[in-house]
Amino acid sequence: MIDKIIDLRSDTVTKPTDRMREAMMNAEVGDDCYGEDPTIHRLEALAAEKVGKAAAMYVPTGTMGNTAALLAHTRAGDYAIMDAECHIYYYEHGNVSSLAGIMPVVMNSPDGVPPLEEVEAYLQRDPAKFPRVSLICLENTHNRRGGRAIPLDRMDAVHELAARYGVPVHLDGARVFNAADALGVDVREITGRVDSVMFCLSKGLCAPVGSMVAGAADFIQEARRARKRLGGAMRQSGVLAAAGIVALTEMSDRLGEDRANAKLLAKALSQFDELGVRPETVDTNMVFVNTEPLGIPAADFADRALQHNIKVSVYGPTTVRMVTNHDASREDVLYAAETLVDLIKTF
Ligand SMILES: Cc1ncc(COP(=O)(O)O)c(C=O)c1O
Repeated sequence: MIDKIIDLRSDTVTKPTDRMREAMMNAEVGDDCYGEDPTIHRLEALAAEKVGKAAAMYVPTGTMGNTAALLAHTRAGDYAIMDAECHIYYYEHGNVSSLAGIMPVVMNSPDGVPPLEEVEAYLQRDPAKFPRVSLICLENTHNRRGGRAIPLDRMDAVHELAARYGVPVHLDGARVFNAADALGVDVREITGRVDSVMFCLSKGLCAPVGSMVAGAADFIQEARRARKRLGGAMRQSGVLAAAGIVALTEMSDRLGEDRANAKLLAKALSQFDELGVRPETVDTNMVFVNTEPLGIPAADFADRALQHNIKVSVYGPTTVRMVTNHDASREDVLYAAETLVDLIKTF
């Protein structure tokens, strides 16, 4: 058995690289609440440039970034349209309502893009009689819809419709660089199809802390006020931003390795047809396994995998998620694939 733990629960488990630790130690800092942190300035300028937006803002977490964006785009009592399985609705503890005062209108579709006819029906409602639709949210890659990358034409369709009604589109792009890798495009091709984007430095890009919100200059100004309200305005945060700069300059180009490793894992597990693993649907770094046909709950599968030093995530009563990442090498993933295949044969 391998003599270390292979952690495939999430790409958030990645540790900062040596280059990040070095950059953090040497970071030039100042009080960012006075606008005096040069490393924060560098990161925000770099992030804005990377995603082709006028301005960007550093936030401690993706959840705060999404919430700041909601607050900046909307007024209490408005509708925001989003997918029923999206992170903002599913995992963010009701911030959309409790902090932004928004009524989420949740819709369902296999790829997580709200159906256009349904969206348009809401956009056509008389604003004198009904709440105003002030935002449409997308997620790319879409976590709970299999880590899939939403194709550009699907994003175009939403953006065009929203623009016709003067409604902005916000992208939860926690893993937008994985989406760009999967679609084989520069990330600006994706972010150019939305008005604002939140993306995480702390997932596949390995930074220990932090996410970015990017968009038009006046939107970012509003988002800064929202960040302050949420308690996210920080002081010498350049020490964290230094790792974010390494994440953006050195880590986004390697995400194809995680994609290739996820494909490899999916191919190995697809020999068990009943588990529902389809390599052709593995666009990025996530593999989902249905443990129901094995007659065991996901938690038992995870316990058994851990006995072989493999950590997987219990994603639902009978759903296991595995996420390939920088800290699990090709060799580690090969070990995991072979070991899980042997394990599944014992059930
Ligand atoms: C799609 C998506 N959006 C937003 C977030 C929130 O990021 P954070 O954990 O930094 O708050 C996550 C976290 O896993 C995510 O997967």
